[in-house]
Amino acid sequence: MADETDQIFNPAQKVAKVSHCSSMEQYKQLHEKSLKNPEEFWGEIVKDFHFEQNVTGKFLDYNFDTTKGSIFIRWLEGAKTNICYNCLDRHVAAGRGDQVAFYWEGNDPADVERVTYAELLKEVCRVANVLKAKGVAKGDRVAIYMPMIKQLVVAMLAVARIGAVHSIVFGGYSADSLAERMVDAQSSVLITADAVWRGAKLIALKEIVDDALKICRSKKLDVKLSLVVRHMRTVTGPQPATNGAANGNPAKRTHFDDQGNYKVGWDSNVDVWWHEAVEGASADCPPVWMDSEDPLFMLYTSGSTGKPKGVLHTVSGYMIYAATTFKYSFDYHPGDVYFCTADIGWITGHSYVTYGPMLNCATSVLFEGVPTYPHTGRFWEIIQKYKVSKFYTAPTAIRTLMKFGDDPVKKYDLSSLAVLGSVGEPINPEAWLWYYRVVGDSNVSVVDTFWQTETGGHVITPLPGATPAKPGSACFPFFGVDVALLDEEGREIKGEGEGYLVFRKPWPGIMRTVYGNHERFETTYFKKFPGYYCTGDGAKRDKDGYIWVTGRIDDMLNVSGHLLSTAQVESALVEHPAVAEAAVVARPHSVKGECLYCYVTLAEGHSFDATLIGQLKTKVRGKIGAFATPDYMQLAPGLPKTRSGKIMRRVLRKIAVGDRDFGDISTLADPSIVEVLFQHRPQEGKV
Ligand code: PRX
Repeated sequence: MADETDQIFNPAQKVAKVSHCSSMEQYKQLHEKSLKNPEEFWGEIVKDFHFEQNVTGKFLDYNFDTTKGSIFIRWLEGAKTNICYNCLDRHVAAGRGDQVAFYWEGNDPADVERVTYAELLKEVCRVANVLKAKGVAKGDRVAIYMPMIKQLVVAMLAVARIGAVHSIVFGGYSADSLAERMVDAQSSVLITADAVWRGAKLIALKEIVDDALKICRSKKLDVKLSLVVRHMRTVTGPQPATNGAANGNPAKRTHFDDQGNYKVGWDSNVDVWWHEAVEGASADCPPVWMDSEDPLFMLYTSGSTGKPKGVLHTVSGYMIYAATTFKYSFDYHPGDVYFCTADIGWITGHSYVTYGPMLNCATSVLFEGVPTYPHTGRFWEIIQKYKVSKFYTAPTAIRTLMKFGDDPVKKYDLSSLAVLGSVGEPINPEAWLWYYRVVGDSNVSVVDTFWQTETGGHVITPLPGATPAKPGSACFPFFGVDVALLDEEGREIKGEGEGYLVFRKPWPGIMRTVYGNHERFETTYFKKFPGYYCTGDGAKRDKDGYIWVTGRIDDMLNVSGHLLSTAQVESALVEHPAVAEAAVVARPHSVKGECLYCYVTLAEGHSFDATLIGQLKTKVRGKIGAFATPDYMQLAPGLPKTRSGKIMRRVLRKIAVGDRDFGDISTLADPSIVEVLFQHRPQEGKV
């Protein structure tokens, strides 16, 4: 029997019938037009948006070639708009103010809320006025560190409305990481919440913020406002019975007073309750009209040096790209209910929880919780409850839920589903097929969307009404995206082959710079292959032209869809006095995709025991966040280095999986270290 992953899955009939793009011929025509005549292609799309002023200069101008000068990308020169206006006012003015923008599902299923476009507009204006009154102006950076609640959407839109730049930091990052990002962006205003339940775990956001602000002050960043949402008042915490704590939830004992109120530390010089501030604020706030290339937001992503990069996106290009990819990749139509499980703290949440759906006036589910709380059918329960038609999640979530078998899925009526999306890492064909067959009942289109924080929106993706999908392949480029594969020497690989995944010309959503460091932008993405944007991923093209992204080819790893750099983790480890040197590699993991495998060389006089391993894990969590906790820790009496001192990581990756097929190790200064390291491998399941 042929390998079933070679199978082709045609678009579901129910999707193709109504699709914006319902055949490969149509896709090819549109794609060709988008490359040959971007002005005509995007010029049509631009008409759907409100521009206070139309393009006066060049529609597109750019340089992708470092040998010809500095890299720049400019779309829609001279045009003026505001993305918040396009997400809210435009729809309200068109009579759609009463449409639900979000159904909010709290961590606890008892906590639900709905909010319309008109209600959001009022709340956004109020918060915008609060920020203005505190002196926040166009171009200022506002940090946001919040749970998945309505106020997070309000906060980002309020910031965008007044022309300030939001810098959202995922609510799972540690105080160190939050402070590092605030200092780099010089964000003197922060919006946060008191705390949040994530499953049965309490995340004390305000406490983390207080620690972060101390670090900011020590680095001479004077934070003038911390606007705090009182969230704990309005939500239900896990009960002792559900979290298994016999004597009551331990978090509840330490963080709550006798009346059950959540306790927070308060510095009245900076802390202001959100609800008190908005109470007296006007619900009228005119938007600031922004130039196309004015900054919209920055979002930090891992960099191979270990220092995160502030990826900067600008207003018009990002807006039309987020909106268009949302419309086509999910084949969005009015009446759909859309549910993306990503946290807004990551780019997926920016583009496909907030901006893409709202620019299309969509109705979405905003989910605060985790897939397995209070039971493993939570996603499916939500899909049934709201009759979700378009669903978007990550392979790591799919693999987690697959482990519980088909029963938790089959308990629910999921017949409303039409398109299932995947994002964040390569999806293994087994997970793809389970998603399609069990969740989608073999009557959906699955879209494996490849993209990056840097690309702003999908760059390689099937279109659900047009593309015959192959499980594990992201298929073909989106409109405006010109894909090439290069070999090590920068020669283009035509037809079948494998190489560096690069793009030839800019699409509207591409990042414009690394905040405060344009040179780093040029070096990271353009220096290696002049004339191309280099993704840092490898990819294969098969005989039918399908693109298969194979994963990172730099020192980055992808844990549960979150990019981390090995350098970032190594620098956390070597901060511990017992560690002389550390090397970190990725090891395949059945649920997370990849996990962290750390080699540590100890300083004189320390021993490698359970206490030290515990401390090292805590160190990494504290420096980065819980999602970066290493799975494996191994003692390394030495590291495999070349004579010039470079660590040969491919050898470490082999040892991590117990594979002795090392290839050529003759260039190592001391080849015998490889066997020593092999002998020190931790036993399976132990660290
Ligand atoms: O390696 C690719 C992987 O995730 C990286 C981008 O990570 P980040 O900027 O955090 O954005 C994640 C959400 C867009 C890519 O360089 N990646 C993302 N989606 C896919 C993927 N790898 C394979 N297939 C995908 N669909």
